[in-house]
Amino acid sequence: MTHILLRAPALLLLLAATGLIGIAQADDLELAQKLATNHCAICHTFDKGGPPGQGPNLFGLLGRKAASESNFTYSDGYSKAMSGKVWDEQMLDAWLTDTQTVAPGSAMIYSQADPAKRQKIIAYIKSLH
Ligand code: HEC
Repeated sequence: MTHILLRAPALLLLLAATGLIGIAQADDLELAQKLATNHCAICHTFDKGGPPGQGPNLFGLLGRKAASESNFTYSDGYSKAMSGKVWDEQMLDAWLTDTQTVAPGSAMIYSQADPAKRQKIIAYIKSLH
């Protein structure tokens, strides 16, 4: 009996901790979505099969060939610089750090100096599938 009584608080603590971790992750993703919405959604859609805006749809970006959305006309500078490349997290991080370094002359001009913000945007794009 003593045994069980001693264990109960530990179990409760464990449950609480798991719950808290769950909430923290949801919050993170919510924040990531907000960042992506604020910084990108004016030009990009993120839903599957979403229409292009000023930029191409970004659903399923990671693992996708660069400049491969058939319903979007990429700039010459971008197409030339990105030819044969496939999107991964590292390339996306470099892209968000400074698009003009990755693809000089690209029609997307963006630079995010805060690595934490870049990681959040990448996490959001990764979460879409
Ligand atoms: C003002 C409009 C605008 C904003 C804001 C913008 N983009 Fe873009 N994006 C573009 C354009 C235009 C292109 C196409 C580039 C080209 O053809 O030179 C592009 C291309 C891209 C590509 C390449 C996709 C492919 O199919 O190869 C990625 C990835 C991307 N943007 C991610 C983002 C993310 C993430 C954000 C937010 C942090 C963002 N963009 C914000 C306009 C924008």
